[in-house]
Amino acid sequence: MKAYQIKAGDGLAGLRSIERPSTDLTANQVRVRIAAAAMNYRDLSFANGQFHNSPGHPLVPLVDGCGEVVEVGSGVTRFKSGNKVITSYYPRWIDGAISPLKTAVSFGAQVDGTLAEEVVASDEAFVTAPLGLAPIEASTLPCAGVTAWNALFVAGSAKPGSSVLLLGTGGVSLWALMLAKAAGLSAIVASSSDDKLERARALGAAATVNYRVMPEWQDEVLRLTGGAGVDTVVEVGGEGTLARSLKATAPGGTTVVVGRVTGSGPVSIEPGALIGGAKRLVGITAGSRAMLEQLVRFVEVSGIRPVIDRVFRFDEAAAAYGHLAASQHFGKTVIEIGS
Ligand SMILES: NC(=O)c1ccc[n+]([C@@H]2O[C@H](COP(=O)([O-])OP(=O)(O)OC[C@H]3O[C@@H](n4cnc5c(N)ncnc54)[C@H](OP(=O)(O)O)[C@@H]3O)[C@@H](O)[C@H]2O)c1
Repeated sequence: MKAYQIKAGDGLAGLRSIERPSTDLTANQVRVRIAAAAMNYRDLSFANGQFHNSPGHPLVPLVDGCGEVVEVGSGVTRFKSGNKVITSYYPRWIDGAISPLKTAVSFGAQVDGTLAEEVVASDEAFVTAPLGLAPIEASTLPCAGVTAWNALFVAGSAKPGSSVLLLGTGGVSLWALMLAKAAGLSAIVASSSDDKLERARALGAAATVNYRVMPEWQDEVLRLTGGAGVDTVVEVGGEGTLARSLKATAPGGTTVVVGRVTGSGPVSIEPGALIGGAKRLVGITAGSRAMLEQLVRFVEVSGIRPVIDRVFRFDEAAAAYGHLAASQHFGKTVIEIGS
């Protein structure tokens, strides 16, 4: 089977096309023919050697995949051949509270991922794909989709009527926008581009702010919310945005720390920034398989479609990495592998 490999730290130039024999299944494994694999910022971080706990050997990258079960091991009961499935970010985090054991392994970072014609893994590592979505769309649920779900509805405690702030128009933030709109939340989107903000409004953003034009964008968020701030911030910026996100958070609200696209350096926060307004600051990492299953059900009931920026062919994987790295995208970058 054809696949790609990359070693953490080798940079985007380290991506290699390889040919590998298919491996035999153990009793609890399934073989999934991958139809589409979506890309995430973490895949750039992995290539650049900035992803935690990366091995010193090359592996098949990417965590997001959608495909068809083509063979099952003798002990598999969850799936049968022909089932359409998506990967679960952490194969060992089935449900319940997070633990180091449950999150020790994720596809495309500690074990082989989805940038391949097939993936062989435990049947526990997959979830039935949502009805009504094409594989290109369904492949975006395991990382960006479940992270947005966790940030809004689990860690972020958002309820119908809540206000949320979404930073940028990348994969996580646009997933969060689609979920927010479908769940009756009021979303403010911050972006560097007026064009992207117009598109965000067309997708249902209640208000927008250009963070390039307004460097003190937290003041605009406070103005837009009548001085109150938002109930939940999906904080993907990190070093350059976290302190501002906290200021934009309403008393009793939650800043959910998801990412660090502006940098991973230390952030200076006074204790009073949290104490006075009884604000919560909470970090998350993707989500459990149970959260992914909740997201699948919500997608089926609500009919929402993820925002796809661009689809690349399998032989254009290097160009897909370059496209994501250029950071001009609006939504998800996906690689189509088969049909
Ligand atoms: N904790 C987790 O489990 C988890 C899961 C998924 C992702 N993440 C992390 O979350 C972050 C986003 O991931 P992604 O896949 O959505 O990335 P992405 O698709 O590359 O999107 C990044 C977006 O960040 C926005 N941005 C850049 N600088 C900004 C700033 N100063 N203020 C506000 N927005 C800014 C840009 O939006 P505009 O172009 O509109 O300005 C850009 O499109 C990454 O750090 C990633 O590693 C974490």
